[in-house]
Amino acid sequence: MSESNRKVVLVGDGAVGSSFAFSLLQNVSATELVIVDIKKDHTEGDALDLEDVTPFAGPAKIHTGEYEDAADADIVVITAGIPRKPGESRLDLVNKNTKILDSIVQPVVKSGFDGCFVVSANPVDILTTITQRLSGFPKERVIGTGTSLDSARLQVALAHKLNVDVNEVNAYVFGEHGDSSFANYDEATVSGKPLSEYSALSADSLAEIEESVKKKGGQIIGLKGATFYGVAMSLSKICKAILNNEDVALPISAPLTGEYGINDLYLGTLAIIDGNGIQQVIEVPLSEEESHKMTNSAEKMNEVLMAVK
Ligand code: LAC
Repeated sequence: MSESNRKVVLVGDGAVGSSFAFSLLQNVSATELVIVDIKKDHTEGDALDLEDVTPFAGPAKIHTGEYEDAADADIVVITAGIPRKPGESRLDLVNKNTKILDSIVQPVVKSGFDGCFVVSANPVDILTTITQRLSGFPKERVIGTGTSLDSARLQVALAHKLNVDVNEVNAYVFGEHGDSSFANYDEATVSGKPLSEYSALSADSLAEIEESVKKKGGQIIGLKGATFYGVAMSLSKICKAILNNEDVALPISAPLTGEYGINDLYLGTLAIIDGNGIQQVIEVPLSEEESHKMTNSAEKMNEVLMAVK
């Protein structure tokens, strides 16, 4: 990757993209944000609206643009895709969103872009895998939001259950960002203590919490029609780690090349993110049951990948 310009190109200015842009301006000192979307008037309006954030949040050049603007960008964030409707699974979107993805990745690569792709469009593990394959980019420079949002939801649920501050909770969800995800309870801690030290966290209540986390996306969509704030923050956290060369471990959709016995697939696990993207994929210790769940997630994703038209 060339010298950092702290420039981000956002492809897709829907609810997730716009919320990400708002979060990026407040939490990450990017110097330039380019917004690319087919809805030209809306995107122009959003860029003008977001400009008014800069006196409060700090300077940044914000404008609409095209794929060619990725030439000197550090990051291209891809949120573009058909979002789920109530009752739809993320996997129902795969063929439609793969076509949209192809129409984005090719011109971005053609622009001479040599930064990192960060993908949130669903089904995110599948689309991140396809982004890497379509772009031919080194795997470390293609990142998916994966189970970062699920991990945040698990933190919230455990904090509610134990009536503690959410920052006291250190817990992750791995596998598919979807129905086959699983909570890595064995490694989780609250206020530095393992979950086994909390009598309120019976096996049944942990199973209930894991299920509620899986269903929360669909629950929110059923109530307000979409989800966007949580995934937007996860996107900006990943962008911050890249732009600030943070060397920080985050739960993301990462390229597995043998970890957990899985190859050539992006799936939710911990990875260390620095200025060049994924510095290291972390194979987290899993119980036998958790290992089965990770394998099950991979098998499900590979089935879908084989069926992508
Ligand atoms: C959700 C979307 C981002 O889980 O898949 O809210």
